[in-house]
Order: sequence, then structure tokens, then C-alpha cells
Amino acid sequence: MAVRPVRIYGDPVLRRKAAEVERFDDALRALIADLRETMRAYQGVGLAANQVGVLERVLVVDVPIDDAGRARYALVNPRLDRRSGTETGEEGCLSIPGIFEEVRRSRQVRVRARDEQGAPLEFVAEGYLARAIQHEVDHLDGVLFVDRLSSLKRQFLRRALEQLAAGELPEAQPPPAEASGSEGGAR
Ligand code: NI
Repeated sequence: MAVRPVRIYGDPVLRRKAAEVERFDDALRALIADLRETMRAYQGVGLAANQVGVLERVLVVDVPIDDAGRARYALVNPRLDRRSGTETGEEGCLSIPGIFEEVRRSRQVRVRARDEQGAPLEFVAEGYLARAIQHEVDHLDGVLFVDRLSSLKRQFLRRALEQLAAGELPEAQPPPAEASGSEGGAR
């Protein structure tokens, strides 16, 4: 297992669509182990393979769901459907350090995927878990959370994003409007 460097905004791999996984082999399981270790090292709540430069439809999430527990999944070839409701909540991204914004997502989604052995997996996710999974599935399609902001908000962030793409850290952003509890984690 190894921590892999997380690709930062401006890296073209973050804009590419990842390919379906066809072989559920040791290489896939090693990738998943690395994604988990990298997510932990960066203290993220989710990570998609694109973010470590691998264009395969694989993601991991590790999300607090209540006071007691966490939801941890490795999802291969995930598909989302039966969306219901909408909810706005704060998001960040390990590939877009320093930027946190409110994003509108479906409140509930059905998730169908394969696990790391290739077995089918199906569950309904809601709230923060649904948000994290939608954020990661977006990554697999080359979509970033800043794409889902209003054009006004994107305009406001333009300079910070240009700095990231140029390999600089953005100037400190104003603190998020609603100070983050558990919702502030980056993915
Ligand atoms: Ni992200």
C-alpha cells in the first residue's frame, strides 16, 4: 500500500472520463488499498481514481453518518439513479485545496456498483453519504464541484482556480458562510 500524490486542479487527468473496470484482479485491489490510504493521509472523506491519475471507474468514501459510525465503501463502476429531493451543503475537494462552497445535490440516490471482488452492491444513500458519492462519481466523469456552482460564484473563484492551475496555492479564501462541522470534509 502506498499514499499516491493527489492531482491538483489544472491537471488534465481530472477532466477526463474514467473507463469501466473489466478485471477484478489484484491490481484493482491494490489501487483501492492505495486510494484508501491516500484518502486517510490527506484526511479526506472520499477519493476517486482520477485524483491519483488513474482513469478507471473506482472510488472510495469514508463518511461520518451519525455520532457513532461511519459509512465506508469502495465502489467500482458505480451507477446512480432514483434520485430524489435536493439539498445544499458545503463541499471541498482534495484536488482543489482551500476552496469550500455550497453545492446543490440530490438528497437521496440509489447506488449500484461492484465491490473489489466484483460482487454486485446496491444500496440507497442519503444526506452526506449521498453527497460524497455524487461528488466522487462526478470525478469519474471529469466533473469538479466548482463546475456545479453558479456562474457568479465561479467568476468569484476564477483567480484562486487560476492560481491552483499555475501550481500556486490560492490566497486564503474567506471562511465558509456556515462554519463546517462534519460537513466540511474534502473529497
Ligand atoms: Ni473531489
